[in-house]
Amino acid sequence: MKEIKKINPHDILDYGIKYFPNFRTGSNPFEFIYAYYLDGKMIGFIDYSIIYEKAEINYIAVSEEYRRKGIGEELLNYFISKLNGVSSVSLEVNVNNEGAIKFYLKNGFVKKAIRKNYYNGEDAYLMVKKLEVI
Ligand SMILES: CC(C)(COP(=O)(O)OP(=O)(O)OC[C@H]1O[C@@H](n2cnc3c(N)ncnc32)[C@H](O)[C@@H]1OP(=O)(O)O)[C@@H](O)C(=O)NCCC(=O)NCCS
Repeated sequence: MKEIKKINPHDILDYGIKYFPNFRTGSNPFEFIYAYYLDGKMIGFIDYSIIYEKAEINYIAVSEEYRRKGIGEELLNYFISKLNGVSSVSLEVNVNNEGAIKFYLKNGFVKKAIRKNYYNGEDAYLMVKKLEVI
């Protein structure tokens, strides 16, 4: 059985550090984290912030053995479905993270700018997806 549910920052720490060496979470009141569970096991999560009319994806990851099965897209669409009055979603992604860049392009994000030195000597793309505000 699959389930996406809101979780607390301390419950994602070990999982997050596995995929993001500098993983930090729970630092601001605008931040939300949802985890994807399959038969009770956490296999992915999305961590995002909503700052008035802008949303930002801080982290998204799916366990290696469950990738390319649409779970990342499910998490992304779940997050977008929860947004209300938000006109754009942005994120930074390492320019060398080809898989994630393809994932975002497939899901309607466009490259907007390069952030030089964003990751300790490595550059990032700023990617943005515009949303229709209803
Ligand atoms: C990015 C990530 C979350 C995608 O999760 P996922 O569950 O594998 O993604 P999906 O199965 O929903 O992929 C949807 C589509 O995106 C594209 N895509 C996803 N991963 C891809 C990859 N590695 N290479 C090329 N295209 C990819 C494909 O078009 C895919 O559809 P397809 O499998 O039918 O071809 C996952 O690769 C991950 O956890 N990466 C490590 C952490 C990371 O880098 N996060 C992003 C930086 S913040």
